[in-house]
Amino acid sequence: MCGIVAYIGQREAYPIVLKGLKRLEYRGYDSAGVAIINNGLQVYKKKGKVALLEEELVGKDMHSHIAIGHTRWATHGEPSDANAHPHISGDGKLAMVHNGIIENYAHLKKELQNLGHVFKSDTDTEVLMHFIEEIKKSNQCSLEEALRIALKRVVGAYVILIVDQDNPGTLIAARKGSPLVIGVGKGEHFLASDASPIVEYTKEVVYVNDYEIAILREDELILKNISNEIQTPYIQKLDIELAAIEKGGYDHFMIKEIFEQPQTIFDSLRGRLDAKKGTLTMGGIREYADMLKNANRIIIVACGTSWHAGLVAEYMIEELCRIPVEVEYASEFRYRNPVVGPGDVIIAVSQSGETADTLVAIESAKEKGAIILGICNVVGSSIARASHAGAYTHAGPEIGVASTKAFTAQLAVLCLVGLMVAKEKGAITPQRFQHLLDELENVPEKVATTLELNEQVKNIAAKYKDARDFLYLGRGYNFPVALEGALKLKEISYIHAEGYPAAEMKHGPIALVDENLPVVFVATKDSYYEKVVSNIQEIKARKGKVIAVITEGDTIIPGMADDIIVVPEADELVAPMISVIPLQLLAYHIGVLKGLDVDKPRNLAKSVTVE
Ligand code: F6R
Repeated sequence: MCGIVAYIGQREAYPIVLKGLKRLEYRGYDSAGVAIINNGLQVYKKKGKVALLEEELVGKDMHSHIAIGHTRWATHGEPSDANAHPHISGDGKLAMVHNGIIENYAHLKKELQNLGHVFKSDTDTEVLMHFIEEIKKSNQCSLEEALRIALKRVVGAYVILIVDQDNPGTLIAARKGSPLVIGVGKGEHFLASDASPIVEYTKEVVYVNDYEIAILREDELILKNISNEIQTPYIQKLDIELAAIEKGGYDHFMIKEIFEQPQTIFDSLRGRLDAKKGTLTMGGIREYADMLKNANRIIIVACGTSWHAGLVAEYMIEELCRIPVEVEYASEFRYRNPVVGPGDVIIAVSQSGETADTLVAIESAKEKGAIILGICNVVGSSIARASHAGAYTHAGPEIGVASTKAFTAQLAVLCLVGLMVAKEKGAITPQRFQHLLDELENVPEKVATTLELNEQVKNIAAKYKDARDFLYLGRGYNFPVALEGALKLKEISYIHAEGYPAAEMKHGPIALVDENLPVVFVATKDSYYEKVVSNIQEIKARKGKVIAVITEGDTIIPGMADDIIVVPEADELVAPMISVIPLQLLAYHIGVLKGLDVDKPRNLAKSVTVE
């Protein structure tokens, strides 16, 4: 949610920051802006995507060895030129970009207005910029000292970057609650919300911790805590490649990421599962296996697509391990004072590892004595670091705003966790354990087979793209898949879509059914199959149009449905990783056929770092 980028060094800074902003645009695209120092501070910003800003700056003298940039997902103040970052101080000498929210900004703003400050925007960021300026002036102190004093009074989350026209060789950054990565080059430094703008230039990075302030010069990185004590930067090696964050010949990141799934599921299982030897190793959470198997309860906290993965895991873990599992929206869990304490294990599921609701939820559960396991995709992310232990999903960078490959990787890892605990607990027979290892190992190949249906799904998309509403139905393990299919469609195509347990449809949504309503059934062969067939009949009796995802060899549903999508047979525990694929493709093709920007759907951002 908002992307920040900066450069200081010998090269031209603007092209590096511009390219970085394009890489981070998935975090928000309401406006974009940059600040450079070239004959004083120059700030350029514009409502809309980065490309519009780039267009406006063609032909301008952008020469500078220092630059900060921002791509915005609006929180305080509508998307507009004035509300775009960077924001400048009252004297026009300082510029700041910010990712996060200053919760007490209204109070600070009043204080500053009483002192004569005038604001040009509605943002909390401009207030913080003026607040720092005011402290610097009234205390006659350095920018760094003013920042430190200001941050002690600020309530909220932030990554901020500041440049000062009187000190063009220094860039200052601070972090609390939002992500900040520093790339360390030879005589240069790169800063960004994630590693994607940096990987092209250096693989050496420092993940800045909460309450740390970084002072950067070409050849110097000083890290301090908020009490002004020097911290030793921990330099890590990035393990992503440039190719992973580029489209690689595909039209969109979303379709590239859908097609990557045989590989990403394989990568999530690799080194952990060996079906031939009948072994399963979960290095990251091994030492918590006893706690998991003896847990009073497992509570899965997540948002959006990750929450859907959590729902599948609930069914899996309860079935395999006989441990009660609850799945909570992180935002609700955090605020409703839940009963949680020692003996409870929280599993936080998050692609970005930065979702504010999930992060705060686990922090409060941790304070109450629960054990926290993080299932995250982004290495070194805040949730991964706030967890006691965890397992990465290894899906690689997910750039398309709608989550696809992260979902299936989460399912793969959650299935491994369930199997590990079931085995430790002696709750699974050796035969069933081996069968599920085999089934899991075969998933990547079955996903690859399912992807061959792309053209067929595209034709189905063309047939239904103008529908006003869609209903997605499934039961058991396929119920969360239906929810996920509906979420994908609304995000990408802006068509209203609802997911429901297929039987629950009779308790209300059936009123929506007529000859214009496409109903997508996830109706693969599982223990609910017969019941789902009855539900399909109920829809057909009311003239609804049925699109059914079914298992190969099914001879019943083809005689009832208007359109069928036939996927390979799989055990119901692993089937969601396969049955979700056609639903991802359907959403993608409908979005594309409608001429929409599927990688950057309106109003969304990839990483939701505000509560
Ligand atoms: C849907 C989507 C969102 C995310 C949600 C949680 O396509 O991407 O619903 O799943 O914002 O994000 P993470 O998993 O990063 O915590």
